[in-house]
Order: sequence, then C-alpha cells, then structure tokens
Amino acid sequence: MYETDLIAFCDRELDLLGSIKDLDVLYAGGSSLLWIEGLSHRIGEKGRLTALDLDTRRIEETRELLGEFDLAAPVQLVAGDIFRPPFAPDTFDLAYSAGLFHELDVRDKSAGDALAALGSVIRPGGRIATSDFVNHVPAVQLEDEELQRELAREVSNAELYGIGSAERLVALYEALLVGVRWRVFTPKPIRHLGKVVLAEEEPEELSSLPARTRRRLRERFNALRERIEREGYTRPASLYAEGFVTGS
Ligand SMILES: C[S@@+](CC[C@H](N)C(=O)[O-])C[C@H]1O[C@@H](n2cnc3c(N)ncnc32)[C@H](O)[C@@H]1O
Repeated sequence: MYETDLIAFCDRELDLLGSIKDLDVLYAGGSSLLWIEGLSHRIGEKGRLTALDLDTRRIEETRELLGEFDLAAPVQLVAGDIFRPPFAPDTFDLAYSAGLFHELDVRDKSAGDALAALGSVIRPGGRIATSDFVNHVPAVQLEDEELQRELAREVSNAELYGIGSAERLVALYEALLVGVRWRVFTPKPIRHLGKVVLAEEEPEELSSLPARTRRRLRERFNALRERIEREGYTRPASLYAEGFVTGS
C-alpha cells in the first residue's frame, strides 16, 4: 500500500506536466528512481533526461539501481548544484523539480536566483515547472520539515527555503517567466508513511551538536513522534507551478 500510494502521488504530480514526449528534460534537485522512471517513461526513447542532485550519495545509489532497469529515455545522472548548473545555455526544453525548493539552502543565494539559474539552461520558449509542498492546510509533515530545517541550521548554518505559501513560490515564477499557471492540490495521503517515519533512527547529525541544543531538538523529535502516533503522518497540500522562458 505504501509503495502504491507513493507511485500514485508521483503519477499525479508528473501528469500535471502534460505531454513531455521527445523533450530534453532536466530533473532539477532529485535523483530518486521513482521520479526518474516516471519522467523517462513519459519522455520516451526520442527524448533525454538529465537528473541533477547536490547529494552525491543519492546519485550513486540511483546509478547502481539504474543498471537493473531498462528505461525509455536515456538517463544521465549528474552531481551538482542547481545554483550553478553544469550545462551550456539553452540546453533543455524543460526543467522540472519536485520537492526541491523547500530544501534549497538560501543562505547565500535566493530561491529566485535558483529559478534564474534553471532558466539559463532552458531554450527560449522552454518551460520551468515545479511541484512542492505548501502550508495551506495543517499537517504533521509540516512540523517534521520545520524540525529538519532547524536541525540543518544548527548543524551547518544552512538556511533552508522551507515550506511556505503557494503565493511565495508563484511570485518567483511571475517575476521571471511568462504564461505562468499554478494550482494548489489537496494532500495525497500515503498509507503507512507514519510507520516508516517512526521506524527511522534518530538523525545522526544530532550527536554532533552541543548538549543543550541536542537535548532541545531531541525533545522536539520525541514530541513529533508522539504526534505521529496520535494523528498519523498527515501530509501537506502541494503546489504545481509552471512558466515559460522568453529568451530576452
Ligand atoms: C526532498 S528531495 C526531492 C526528492 C525528489 N523528488 C527526488 O526525486 O529525489 C530534495 C532534493 O533536492 C536536492 N537539492 C537540494 N539543494 C540542491 C541544490 N542546490 N542543487 C541540487 N540539488 C539540490 C537534495 O539533495 C535532495 O535530493
């Protein structure tokens, strides 16, 4: 049921792209096989898919798994930063991200800079699209994400963009792109996700923090676990937004 619901969620998000057949697509800030398989299947053998992820460990894990799959569109996995995409200008027809923006570290550069960097590798007339969570309905996952954000701040001084309103992300799109369309979707429950989260170990990074901070965050993680036991792991609404690059 867990896998079925994850696939259904991924399919719902990817279907929002409409036809992407034969396109040269950049999957920005992600490398999970589920999304790569869904994109590759929709692109087909005449297109190409490039996945760019900052996390080299995730890239390597997916590279190993990819060997066992026969995907429709050829897939290239690239370790790198979307703020400095390692591609020539005008390389892709579409840049798509799913769940990237809330994990962006915007300490030195803004989320708008990230969008502009993606735009620089899209051909004139090409499209940028994203799916990400928004805070329009209460959800246990929002508390979890906020806690992860605080942990990242304590561990590495990162300032994650986090999950905010749909309007905040849409404003970035409207400042840079034309023909912007967007819509907020109701949360898609994933059965047993709560059990999966509860089975996870305490974040490793906690042990590297000063005792007081560690105690404070540990108390919050424990409170979150109790909330998951009571309410289940309720999910946030998501935003789909897209717009087109003008080329000027
Ligand atoms: C919530 S996950 C997205 C999951 C995604 N649906 C997938 O297929 O992996 C966010 C991803 O964004 C990546 N990421 C965060 N900041 C990035 C950056 N500046 N450049 C490239 N990838 C980044 C993280 O490494 C992580 O894999």
